[in-house]
Amino acid sequence: MAIVYGGDYNPEQWPREVWDEDVRLMREAGVNRVSVGIFSWAKLEPEEGRFEFAWFDEVLDLLHAGGVEVCLATPTASPPPWFAASYPEALPVDAEGRRLTHGSRQGFDPSSDVYLAKALRITEQIARRYHDHPAVKLWHVHNEYGCHNARSHSPAATAKFRAWLRERYTDLDGLNEAWGTAFWSQAYSSWDQVFTPLPTPTIPNPAHVLDFKRFSSWQLTQLYRAEVEVLRSIDPDKPMTTNFMSGNHPDIDLWKFAEAVDIVANDHYLEGPDGHVNLGFAADFTRSLGGGAPWILMEHSTSAVNWQGRNRAKAPREMLRNSMAHLARGADAVMFFQWRASKQGAEKWHSGMVPHAGTDSKIWREVCELGARLGELAELEGSRVQADTAILWDYENLWAQEHEAKPTSDIDVMRIRDEYYGALWRAGITADVAHPENDLSAYRLVVVPAVYLMSEAAARNLKDYVRGGGTVLVTPYSGIVDETDTVYLGGYPGAISDLVGVRTEEFHPLIDETVRLASGGTGRIWSEAAEAKGAEVRDTYLDGTPAWTVNRFGEGTAHYLTTFVDEATLDRVVAAAAADAGVAPAAEAPAGVEVVRRAHRDGRSWLFCINHTETDAEVKTGTATVEVPAGEVVVHAETA
Ligand code: GAL
Repeated sequence: MAIVYGGDYNPEQWPREVWDEDVRLMREAGVNRVSVGIFSWAKLEPEEGRFEFAWFDEVLDLLHAGGVEVCLATPTASPPPWFAASYPEALPVDAEGRRLTHGSRQGFDPSSDVYLAKALRITEQIARRYHDHPAVKLWHVHNEYGCHNARSHSPAATAKFRAWLRERYTDLDGLNEAWGTAFWSQAYSSWDQVFTPLPTPTIPNPAHVLDFKRFSSWQLTQLYRAEVEVLRSIDPDKPMTTNFMSGNHPDIDLWKFAEAVDIVANDHYLEGPDGHVNLGFAADFTRSLGGGAPWILMEHSTSAVNWQGRNRAKAPREMLRNSMAHLARGADAVMFFQWRASKQGAEKWHSGMVPHAGTDSKIWREVCELGARLGELAELEGSRVQADTAILWDYENLWAQEHEAKPTSDIDVMRIRDEYYGALWRAGITADVAHPENDLSAYRLVVVPAVYLMSEAAARNLKDYVRGGGTVLVTPYSGIVDETDTVYLGGYPGAISDLVGVRTEEFHPLIDETVRLASGGTGRIWSEAAEAKGAEVRDTYLDGTPAWTVNRFGEGTAHYLTTFVDEATLDRVVAAAAADAGVAPAAEAPAGVEVVRRAHRDGRSWLFCINHTETDAEVKTGTATVEVPAGEVVVHAETA
């Protein structure tokens, strides 16, 4: 029993003598597992068909002798230069139709059969050689699918996109209807006329673009499944996964992808001033993708990253707070990119567990401290996080909203999601993330943040949930179109007008202005000509138009906002919805102190108290008061 601790280990970047020191330092830091081989393709297969495994044997043996387990990667995210030179047709083609070149990573077209064949060959070689190596505990398939090459416009992609569409719509009538091609004379009379969405003179067909995003996501999932099939045929028992980017990466439908992995793994990097709040979302989403099961934090950073323009080094203790927050939200493994900070290459300015400065450093001391603290928390392994609130999030809605022609370009659905998640975070409410078609019956409160694209099934799901006694908090721009991006007619929000008890005739996006509310708050970005149809009106614009309504629906309650309100107003609305739903925070804590509970089925539970402020704080659990010094993390065992 142990919490897994470690990171990506890339020994090929270092001379042989460093490897011994690496293993010694890993032991010193309490590292018990590393991911190996992620970018080793060129060294394992320096020329096509010629494999060199001796050096890799040595790496795995050394790690094993040092008591460090291995998460063994297939190196297929970065094909070597020989691949690009021999098979230029297998390189990705961007949205302007340009074929990209070698010299970075992910230089392959996800639809290329040539790429797939080469990827499966190296995968098979590695599986045959190492499936019974005692260090290997888990397969790390590929790396961050679609991080750079999610959507390719190659001839191979065009052919596969057509096949995918035929499967989805059976015939062209189906496609023409779904895409609404009666508009602008776009009706297709032959499959050969259908291409990936390359540049057009003006606004492209939204349903066409949306389907291409669905296809591209599916295609990447197929690559994962193909590698897994090879691995499974040689090593049927070991778990397999790949590292997701659940925080902000928009291009892959992780709900669908998660069905294919044995255990969910995620990479998270802090972005923006409230990075620790987005961390919470990413962690909660990752946990939810696995149905609540413990998950692997496959990568985060000890300090700065190198890809944000201006890359902030983490403050003292910040890395500890970040790691513990992932653990609090259900991770059973805390890993970093990467073990040793590189001295060359595209990521030489990215922090590592062993920094450029060496072991006489803040980073190394915190790395060792974290290892020791995780060692003390072994008993937590397998415990779970309970949430009675959910926030809806799905990719098809996101993709539909990426389209350029819409009522306002000011609605950024990720920001809206983060705003509402942020309000839950401030209220101390632990949330799961749910797909709109998921069973919601386990939740007391469900937040619906700008779910513009809402399938009929999702709308039914939401209504059944509220009818049965649930509470929803719905933002504007929800329930507007179905899965083909076709508007629900008869007044907005057409899919759920009856649920919220409101009918809107026309949208009035706010152009460089705000709308004042009777309660004293303000609305931004959006307003609408809403009329209450049975809902109670809790707040209005100054002209009396409903701003916040509450509707009884069956046994439950639907809160609806017709604008995006300021933070204080949002906190009030969330508090009211939480009170209706009977949702309470895990403990009483001052602002900026994150509190999350993990518990075993047998009742043993721990309260993670993470103080993000510069002031010492007290967390009151009802039976105990936990002192949490400024910037520190206290894991309070609630049971003896
Ligand atoms: C991840 C990737 C790693 C490394 C890291 C840097 O996206 O998987 O290989 O590039 O980002 O932050």
